[in-house]
This record gives sequence, C-alpha cells and structure tokens, in this order.
Amino acid sequence: MVDWKNPPRLFIPGPVHVLPDVLQQLSRYTLGHRGKEYAQLHKETVDMLKQILFTEQHVFLSTSSASGVWEGSIRNCVDHDETVLCTMCGAFSDKFADVARDCGRKVEELKVDWGKATTVEMIDKKLAEGKYSAVTIVYNETSTGLTNPVYEISEMMKKKYPDVLVLVDAVSGMIGLPLHFDKLGWDVVFASVQKAFALPPGMAVFAVSNRALEKSKKVTGRGYYFDFQQFAKSAAKDQTPTTPSIPHIMAINYQCKKFLAEGMENVWKRHKEMADYVRGWAKQKFDLFCEEKYASNTLTTIKNTKGIVVGDIIKAVQAKHNTVFGNGYGKLKDQTFRIAHMGDITLKDVQEVCQWIDDEVK
Ligand SMILES: Cc1ncc(COP(=O)(O)O)c(C=O)c1O
Repeated sequence: MVDWKNPPRLFIPGPVHVLPDVLQQLSRYTLGHRGKEYAQLHKETVDMLKQILFTEQHVFLSTSSASGVWEGSIRNCVDHDETVLCTMCGAFSDKFADVARDCGRKVEELKVDWGKATTVEMIDKKLAEGKYSAVTIVYNETSTGLTNPVYEISEMMKKKYPDVLVLVDAVSGMIGLPLHFDKLGWDVVFASVQKAFALPPGMAVFAVSNRALEKSKKVTGRGYYFDFQQFAKSAAKDQTPTTPSIPHIMAINYQCKKFLAEGMENVWKRHKEMADYVRGWAKQKFDLFCEEKYASNTLTTIKNTKGIVVGDIIKAVQAKHNTVFGNGYGKLKDQTFRIAHMGDITLKDVQEVCQWIDDEVK
C-alpha cells in the first residue's frame, strides 16, 4: 500500500513528481464554469499559455489526456478523401498513425527504426509525391527518448509545402523543449499536463492555427467532444465547451505564472542541464538508446548494456529511497530503462537517482 504521508517520488516519463504547493491548487474551492470568475481564470490561463507557446492563434484546454487531441487533430484537420503522412519512430508516433486509421483516414507511413530520428530529407522526399494534406510528427518520442528535428522540418515545410497541415504531438516536449508555435507554422500541437507541466494527469493543452480552424469548418464528422469549432465558440466567451476540470485549470494557471517568472529560455536551459547530466552518466555506465544527436532533454532512454534485471533495480531503488524510475516502454521493456528529467525537479534530484541506480548495479 502507498504511504500517503510519504508518497513515492516519480521519475517515470509521466506522470511526474508534483510539488505540494502545486497540489494545493487542486484543492481550492471550485467555481461555476459559466460564471465571471471562471471566465477570468480561463482567460488569464490561456493568455499565459499563448506567451509560453509563442502564439497569437488559438489555445484550448481539454479535459482529457492528450490522446483525445490525437483523435481531435485528425478528425478536424484531415478530410475523409485526404491522405495523412504519419511519421513513425517509436511507440507513440506509431499510435498516432493507428488513431488516424481508426478515424477512417487514409494513412501513409513513414517509418524509421526505433532510436532513429525522422529527418528533413525523409519528409521532403515523401511530401514531394504531392498526395498528402497533413503530416503527423511526434516532437519528443517518449519510448525512445528522442527529439525529432522539428525546427528544421518546419523550415523546410514552410518553404516547400506550405499547404500541408502540420499536426504535432508535443506530449513530453511542451514546456521542457523550445516551442514557437507561430514561427514553426504548425497547425495543431498538444500535450498532457502530467509531463513537463508537472501536474497530476487529467487535462491536455492544445494550440490550433487559424487555417486549421478554418479548414475544420468544412470537415464533416468531427465528433462532439473534440470538435475544434465548439472549442473556438466557447473560447470566445472564455469558456470550454463542456464542464472542465476547474481544479486543473487553477493548477495550470499557477504553473504558468512560475514558467513565465522563470522565463521560457531558462526553463528549457534547466531541462537541458538535467539532461546533460543524465546523458553523461548513461554513456559512462550504460549507453544511450537513441542517436545522441537527437537525445531528448526531457527524458533519457538508457540501453541496458549490462543485462541488469531492470524490474529488480526499480524495486530496490523504490524500497530504499521511495523513488521510482521507468522501465523501457513496450517492446523496449527490460532492454532499456528511462529516467525522466522534466517538470519541477532539480539537477540534484536527478544526480541522486543516478547515484541510487549505481548503488544497485554493482
Ligand atoms: C509522446 C506521447 N504521445 C502521447 C501520449 C499519450 O498521452 P496520454 O496518455 O496523456 O493521453 C504519451 C504518453 O505518455 C506520449 O508520451
């Protein structure tokens, strides 16, 4: 049983550790979601998120995890007779393609081996076929610990394929990695709040471009819960279409104030410092799973070069230090393990985790 007075500290790639002052935000008195006070909270939160995501376009709050916006982005932005190019480089980018197929869309796959990045050249070559109306990309692939070169990809796409919509899963990238939505020319980007926002799970934040919103008007069968038109209509009143998780919005608001006070450049720098440390340790003691050039600043996927029994080491570190790190994801279970370095943690925290793993791996 969990000792609720002393709960485990999470270094898994989501949900991550949540600080007590942040948790308190979730236990404030609630507001009516159609009242003036809520509208103020909503507007203030969305305005801050626009600064954080460097956008003057639309930012919406969804009471769902990000998987819902996987579906929403496809159902709103890809018409039934269109083909979407799904770039695939790990478990989550693979799932994005599955979702597009489940939504009945025509999907063309652009697959690379897990641990490799999807490059500008690969996407350019595929898009040159001229048959795609949208492309899906995972910014930070949480299974392999890899960050795709999205800034380069976006530059190329803006120049050569300006009409192709860009749908980006930034679930484990948002906040921890640079994200200039308007400059990148993206059409949808989304994340769940249990990653670098450092909140308990239960909501997603997403941005939508003007042109994606315009396009969605003409796409039929957008569904009910993730209809971008409904989000836009409600946003005009500083509301959400359905009853939102107001405690989460209070906590998102609290976190956004902290990010802006710290400055986004500093937030990204803090994540990079932690990543540099964990990468250095991983290379010395084990190896990185992905190509180092693309290694993520929000989590590290470590190749189990020593044949350790990952589950046993996780259990031992939890028993002695009340701290949990992650096993490999899906088919990478036991062959890899993962240390998350995102959210409200410090370099000292990740140094401790690495030391504790060392203590177990003789
Ligand atoms: C890159 C990525 N995309 C999507 C998801 C799904 O997010 P959720 O379970 O919050 O819907 C995850 C979850 O870890 C993820 O890491």
